[in-house]
Amino acid sequence: MSRSKSKLGKLDFDPPVTVASGTFGTEYFDFFDQRWLGAYVSKTVTFEPKAGNPVPRLYETEAGLLNAIGLQNPGLKGFIGEELPRLRDLLQIPLIVSFSGSTPTEFCQMLECLEKQPGIAGYEVNVSCPNVEKEGLPFGIDPDVVFNLTRELSKLTDKELTVKLSPNVSSIEQVAQAAEAGGATSLALINTLWGMAVDWRTGKSRIGRKVCGYSGMGVKPVALALTYKAAQAVKLPILAMGGIHTWRDALEFFYAGASVVAVGTAMFSNSQAVVELVQGLNGYLEERNLRLKDIIGKVS
Ligand SMILES: Cc1cc2nc3c(=O)[nH]c(=O)nc-3n(C[C@H](O)[C@H](O)[C@H](O)COP(=O)(O)O)c2cc1C
Repeated sequence: MSRSKSKLGKLDFDPPVTVASGTFGTEYFDFFDQRWLGAYVSKTVTFEPKAGNPVPRLYETEAGLLNAIGLQNPGLKGFIGEELPRLRDLLQIPLIVSFSGSTPTEFCQMLECLEKQPGIAGYEVNVSCPNVEKEGLPFGIDPDVVFNLTRELSKLTDKELTVKLSPNVSSIEQVAQAAEAGGATSLALINTLWGMAVDWRTGKSRIGRKVCGYSGMGVKPVALALTYKAAQAVKLPILAMGGIHTWRDALEFFYAGASVVAVGTAMFSNSQAVVELVQGLNGYLEERNLRLKDIIGKVS
């Protein structure tokens, strides 16, 4: 049995590593074997297709990445018709589908539709998107909205239901507890922080959308603190991400309370990041004669 074997709710993870939604495509499997991942998380699917935001959409900062992709995706029909059959054929690891609606009803309709499709092991509910019934404020900032949404979704599936939390909230504990009370079987965090970059020479925004998402190296301390806070507030297992580049970063998250970690922005600069992470993690556990479960949440 592998020392780093873990569990995220109903899913076994061996290795305890996956990819962050939207940062990864199956093209990466030209560079490493997919079995270096414990599961595959899709790019977020929305009900309608989305063309995404105007360019430029990416800007590399001193410590991390700004992005304003705007959830570009083929929509639920396109996903089910084209992307899902392709993933089903290709993947030998569990598939977690990330999805997002613009109203609670739309979220439920999407889940009902996805439930009819074979080959899906679980869902990641992206609540960082705007709720058109609440003046476009993100679902994930309001614990009541998160509770009601999770409660409705949890009635529709017996599969893994992870709610992906936004870091842009005043109390991660309250939102985490709301998702737990609503019936989530795990939590994923963090989505991107708010970020912005301005060209000081011209005064122009470096990104088409001005205020956008910040990820990568610079967000790690924030992601770590939010992982720790969420882990203290709930019993649910946590899929943690935010600035994880190396196995040492991953260990910090396990000690803070993560059961599984995801790599996102790091893949843009190192296609072997996942492989190196799993090898380093296993080496660390071996050397100290530990199992991953001995260290999860054991920060002192
Ligand atoms: C280019 C890009 C696209 C992203 N798209 C999505 C997405 O579709 N759905 C989602 O839940 N998160 C999305 N994210 C957020 C990541 O999944 C992750 O939560 C965040 O980047 C923090 O992890 P990292 O610092 O390891 O990248 C995206 C991030 C980036 C950089």
